[in-house]
Amino acid sequence: MTATDVRPSPDAEAMQAAVAAALRTVDANIDAFGDGYPADTTAAGHYPRRPPTAGQPAGGNVGWTTSFWPGMLWLAHDLTRDGRYQRAALSHVDSFAARVSNGIDLDTHDLGFLYTLSCVVPADRTGDRRARDAALAAADHLMSRFLEPAGIIQAWGDLNDPRQRGRTIIDSLMNTPLLFWASHTTGDDRYAAVARRQAAALREHIVRPDGTTFHTFYWDPETGVPLRGETEQGHADHSCWARGQAWGIYGFSLNHRHTGDPGLLAAARTCADYFLAHLPADHVAYWDLEFGDGSGQERDSSAAAIAACGLVELADCLTGATRPVPGDAADAARYRAAAGRILRSLMDGYAPRSAAESNALILHGVYDKPKGVGVDEGNLWGDYFYLEALTRASVPGWNSPW
Ligand code: GLY
Repeated sequence: MTATDVRPSPDAEAMQAAVAAALRTVDANIDAFGDGYPADTTAAGHYPRRPPTAGQPAGGNVGWTTSFWPGMLWLAHDLTRDGRYQRAALSHVDSFAARVSNGIDLDTHDLGFLYTLSCVVPADRTGDRRARDAALAAADHLMSRFLEPAGIIQAWGDLNDPRQRGRTIIDSLMNTPLLFWASHTTGDDRYAAVARRQAAALREHIVRPDGTTFHTFYWDPETGVPLRGETEQGHADHSCWARGQAWGIYGFSLNHRHTGDPGLLAAARTCADYFLAHLPADHVAYWDLEFGDGSGQERDSSAAAIAACGLVELADCLTGATRPVPGDAADAARYRAAAGRILRSLMDGYAPRSAAESNALILHGVYDKPKGVGVDEGNLWGDYFYLEALTRASVPGWNSPW
């Protein structure tokens, strides 16, 4: 492909074919995964069972990615209204309720990813009480990770772990919707207040003046003084990890939607403009935006899928009823067109051609290149956000779980 490669947005026929192919994979995976959970990423194109860890057997509900599977089942239901998908999605509520009530692998900010897709969705759509209670318990646990006076939610590990203490990360912008939901559901503003502090702290310190983002940032937990940015999964501390930038586009947009804070909308635009200015010819980012065509590095299709959703969310924010600001409509159209080009490229060049090739929905993601984990493989979050992008594009008025 060349720098002049301009892909049109997906047409209805291409979209239908892509949705049908994705649903065939979801159908096959319902049988393949059974009542267990697949690993974070494929190995040679296929998902193995989740390895045993944290005292749990193989296929257990541990780690940060298990909810993307029920999340995909809910999207399949949104696309088809077929009750089979809803029943399959609801069958995961018990596992997530047990996880939070038994305290299994909860030392993470990713409780937002985990409980939004697995429990907030059924709580809101079916009135499931177990799901509501589990999601509220997860929100309470997430609140226990809030550190004063820094005003941040610690991302990873035990709160006393010196390596992780006072550290938060850009991905956490996707976890705050659980807290906004908890405030909305209980009428208690404490959850939303913490979410607002977290989003504001990230806006102020994790976005750099040149429009790039740090992956992670440390605060002094005792004094609250902001200290330094550091990467974990990016190429270098000073570089711009592609998936982090994509989380920034989507996460700042969502936090703007929940708060109306114009600073968060500006941050989402900043992240989007840098991301779009650093895409290769086929519109699917390399795993770190430092790399481009000819670098010999791998792309991260999951960053592309997240950005495709985030750009549409950003465009929706810009065209919201409260924002008749000159120039916004043109920017919104630009972001929608970019999202369409990214999605088209994923459909054409990254979805597997056969079940024998892969049981992921999209190939060529990177989980953690510095550690050599999940490099050039499918992964559960890439699959989820690809299916979300297809759903956003095919279901008018789609009801976002975020
Ligand atoms: N949220 C973890 C990751 O994006 O790898």
